Amino acid sequence: MRVFVTGATGFIGSAVVRELIAGGHQVLGLCRSEAKAAALAAAGAEVYGGSLEDLDRLRSGAARSDGVIHLAFNHDFSNFAANGEADRRVIQALGSVLAGDRRPLVVTSVIPMVKTAPGQPAREDNATFGFDVIPRASEEAAAAVAAEGGNVSVVRLPQVHDTVKQGLVTQAIGLFREKGVCAYVGDGQNRWPAAHVLDVARLYRLALEKAEPDAKYHAVAEEGVPLRAIAEALGRRLELPARSIAPGEAQAFFGWMARFAGHDMPASSEQTRRKLGWEPAGPGLLADLEQLHVPEN
Ligand SMILES: NC(=O)c1ccc[n+]([C@@H]2O[C@H](COP(=O)([O-])OP(=O)(O)OC[C@H]3O[C@@H](n4cnc5c(N)ncnc54)[C@H](OP(=O)(O)O)[C@@H]3O)[C@@H](O)[C@H]2O)c1
Repeated sequence: MRVFVTGATGFIGSAVVRELIAGGHQVLGLCRSEAKAAALAAAGAEVYGGSLEDLDRLRSGAARSDGVIHLAFNHDFSNFAANGEADRRVIQALGSVLAGDRRPLVVTSVIPMVKTAPGQPAREDNATFGFDVIPRASEEAAAAVAAEGGNVSVVRLPQVHDTVKQGLVTQAIGLFREKGVCAYVGDGQNRWPAAHVLDVARLYRLALEKAEPDAKYHAVAEEGVPLRAIAEALGRRLELPARSIAPGEAQAFFGWMARFAGHDMPASSEQTRRKLGWEPAGPGLLADLEQLHVPEN
């Protein structure tokens, strides 16, 4: 297949590009900067210049392809609501080209938005809800594309990691170094799900190849890693103390991340594994944190 990949220069997207090419596909990779074009071409992709803001350019990329994987997202947290709406427009634009035929569109969503009962793992057949900390409209937009006859599926992501990047954990590392302590809230038994970036890349390829309309997948290798274990692993690697803070201190310590830091969000991938034959091979989050690449101050 010839696959149009947005976010092809990013952490997950670059792994997806390599996985697709190794799997015998051709990649048309969206790229907005000359600086990143060489690495994308070296990975074997055709570089497709453009940005998320240029919807016509996105439509023609999709039109030239047999399927689309949409990973790009503007992560400026100070402007998250607007970025969520921009993502909606991008998904609508990509979907408008693919609607009415079997060519698959795979979009990206996030595990914390999945509605669950307290303590229960999020499942693929659970709906999402409007989590005010992440006003992300990807699944709403995907549903609108499906309603127009598009073949769209959704991959929901947990903390995606290697030894260099680990999703929200990477944000926490900056904070812990600044404050000189690796904190967790209360007993720190609240859990974050996780998956290694190479396992996640394989899942995107499998989801694209399966091309099942309206499917939801959880790229979850570990159902939930307790925040205390994460803070302690970071403490060893960063040579900082790990300690509990009271729930009332969480906002002052974690700022915008407080709602995540104290949040228990285990997630299952049972349906995903069964449907796609996906078996994550790891390593796990704590193993990657033990080998964490510690950036210079
Ligand atoms: N990493 C995680 O643990 C995690 C967890 C949950 C969800 N996700 C989601 O997974 C997806 C990929 O995340 P990631 O970790 O790979 O992020 P990343 O490394 O920050 O990559 C983001 C990608 O989006 C591109 N991009 C951003 N704004 C753009 C714009 N205006 N026009 C064109 N391209 C633009 C970036 O291009 P440049 O390279 O030019 O900047 C890059 O290719 C995102 O939707 C993210 O929200 C990630």
